[in-house]
Amino acid sequence: MRKKYVIANFKMNKTDEEIKNYLSTLIPIVVSATSQIVLAVPFVSIKTSVEKVKGSNILIAGQNLNENEFGTFTGEVNGEMLVGVGAESVVVGHSERRNKFNETNEIVNKKIFKALKNSLICVFCVGETLYERKNQLTAQVLQQQISIGLKGLYANELNHIVIAYEPVWAIGTGTIPMDIEILETVKLIRSILTDMYDAKIANEVSVLYGGSVNESNCKKIAKLSGVDGVLVGGVSLVPEKFGQIISAFDIKEKKKLPIEKV
Ligand code: PGA
Repeated sequence: MRKKYVIANFKMNKTDEEIKNYLSTLIPIVVSATSQIVLAVPFVSIKTSVEKVKGSNILIAGQNLNENEFGTFTGEVNGEMLVGVGAESVVVGHSERRNKFNETNEIVNKKIFKALKNSLICVFCVGETLYERKNQLTAQVLQQQISIGLKGLYANELNHIVIAYEPVWAIGTGTIPMDIEILETVKLIRSILTDMYDAKIANEVSVLYGGSVNESNCKKIAKLSGVDGVLVGGVSLVPEKFGQIISAFDIKEKKKLPIEKV
C-alpha cells in the first residue's frame, strides 16, 4: 500500500535553537496525523531534531548526501554520517542541487545508491524547467531523470524511494501548475516506472507534488488522485502553516451512519 508523505525542506534556514522551538510548536499539532511527516533540516541540526522528535510521528532527513564513500571531500557528508546522527531519510536531486551545484542525473543515481546502501528513505526529486515545459520537453526530461536516476535499482529497492515531482518553475515562485498538469505528470511518472519495472511496482511508489505548496492550495492538491503528498519549502518554515498542510493529507474516518431500527 502506498504511503502518504508530507515533507518539509528547510533548505538553508533556521539555527539549531530555532529548530528546537519550531519542533516544540509542531509536535503537539501533528500528534494524530495519519501521513508520514518528514523534516529535511540542515545537517548541523539533525541530531537535535532527532532527539526532539523521539516518540512522535516525525522522521528527520538530510537535504543531501555525497555520492562517495568517504575521503577528501571537504565540506561533504556521507550516508553513514547521516545515519550515525539518526537521520532516516534523505532528499536527493533537488533542483537547487542540480542547478546550483551541477548535480547531473548520473551523480543523482550514485547518491540514490548511497542512500539505499544506508537504508535511508530516499526522496528523489524530479521536474522540468519552464523552458522545457513550454517546449513540450517535460516527458523527455522526466524520462531521463527517472531512468538514469534509478538505473540499476532492483524492484524491491523501490520501497525506499519516494518520488517528488517538483516543476522548477513552481519552486518558490507562488505559481503552481494546473490540476490537470499535476495529474498528467504524476501519471507520466508512473508510466515511466511501469516501463522500467511493471505496473504493480509503479503503483506502489509514492509520488508527491512540490513547488509553492501552501496552507490554502494544499487542500485541492490533496484531492488529486495519484498524488501521495507534498514536499514543502518556504511555507514549511512556519509550524502552524505546515501543520495545516499536514492535516489536509489526513485520512479522515468516514462518519458512521446510525443503524436504522426496523
Ligand atoms: P517551495 O519549495 O515550497 O518554497 O516552493 C519547494 C521545494 O523546493 O522543495
